[in-house]
Amino acid sequence: MDEIVVGIDVGTTKVCTLVGRVENSKTMRILGVGIEPSDGIRKGIIVDLPAASQAIKRSVEKAEHTSGMEITTALVSLAGAHVSSVNSRGAAGIPGGVIDAIDVARALEQAQAVAIPHDREIIHVIQRGISVDGQEGVRTPVGMHGFKLEVETHIITAATATVDNLRQCVSAAGVNIQQFVLNPLASAEVVLTEQERQMGVAVCDIGGGTTDLAIYVNGDVWHTMVLAVGGNHVTQDVAHGLRLPVSQAEDVKKQQGHAIRSDIGSEEFFTIRPFGEDKDVRINKQDLAHIIEARIEETFGLILQEIKRSGYDGLLPAGMVLTGGTSALPGIARIASEVLGMPVRTAQPENLSGLIDKLNSPAYSTSVGLLRWALTMHEHEVAITGGGKNRRRSKGEGMNFDSIKNWMKRLLP
Ligand SMILES: Nc1ncnc2c1ncn2[C@@H]1O[C@H](COP(=O)(O)OP(=O)(O)OP(=O)(O)O)[C@@H](O)[C@H]1O
Ligand SMILES: [Mg+2]
Repeated sequence: MDEIVVGIDVGTTKVCTLVGRVENSKTMRILGVGIEPSDGIRKGIIVDLPAASQAIKRSVEKAEHTSGMEITTALVSLAGAHVSSVNSRGAAGIPGGVIDAIDVARALEQAQAVAIPHDREIIHVIQRGISVDGQEGVRTPVGMHGFKLEVETHIITAATATVDNLRQCVSAAGVNIQQFVLNPLASAEVVLTEQERQMGVAVCDIGGGTTDLAIYVNGDVWHTMVLAVGGNHVTQDVAHGLRLPVSQAEDVKKQQGHAIRSDIGSEEFFTIRPFGEDKDVRINKQDLAHIIEARIEETFGLILQEIKRSGYDGLLPAGMVLTGGTSALPGIARIASEVLGMPVRTAQPENLSGLIDKLNSPAYSTSVGLLRWALTMHEHEVAITGGGKNRRRSKGEGMNFDSIKNWMKRLLP
């Protein structure tokens, strides 16, 4: 197989463009990497168009340079608290008694006929499950006998204006958007095992400005959400607590930080030189851990609330898989496990070859996940038919004819 895929992860702290080639079903060769600090992006959304498009452009140019390829089309990550999701069910009667692809398409179309406010648009329609005459867990309905077909979908929508801003920035960088992919769905592609998805698991990507969550049950996505909290809040707390400039607080957090105060001995110190001081200042590591612990505990408290609200809290025997830059914080998995009352592990991209020296970090799960999503796109998604007026897309964006064909093929036995 010789398929080239491109993803642009537009994060709050960095923009990462990757060019990859599939080597086999397990490994991916990274041919081009462009990592640039973000600008004009807060909590996952664009707040300064020219600054953000410049950052995206620089990242794309770097990836072009390292890969020696011109980038014209890419998958682009999407996050921010403006994203929301609903589960919707569609049904179709089977006039012939035997299900065909058109019956399935009718049921899916009905599932998408949910009322979506005019200022929102559909980003993903993901098939969660199919049942025939009340019998759940049907995988390939076409050809089966039955009277009533029902499909469950997970529909993810986003604020049109916010998505349009991102569209504009990516276009200004000279790239067509093949599709937007919600952050946690991309991350899940690289950090979850199939067994975890089947058992029931939550993936949680804690970045700089957002915490992205997706819940998988019986192999499918059942719930997604994006919280506007992340590692930047921890840095802010450290800056306030230790009276340091933000850039220094960021370094201190990464080099000396720990999420559990009681793991640190009371005699552990480090020295820093704050701006305006002419000598080093000694700081107790426990004090730093105390500040970080409070914020991390609060963050997982919010995550727990959200999981409970989703109603799937009893359905996650495989617990939570943590990723994103902030998951590199020592002790975070343990504190998460204590707050959530479930097993928690941390994960990062694996099975990569090529230009990987920077990518072996949890901060790049979404970036690498976009490439994986590109490969398996047709396995997850349903052609979007509903909400016509909510489907403003730029040229070339959305599911192309091939992916619709692939999707139709998947329905066949
Ligand atoms: N070793 C570390 N310890 C603690 N925090 C870390 C460490 N390494 C990175 N981080 C934090 O991770 C965050 C960046 O993570 P990431 O690169 O996943 O974010 P992003 O994708 O740019 O943002 P988002 O997805 O929220 O829009 C920053 O807040 C950074 O301080
Ligand atoms: Mg991110």
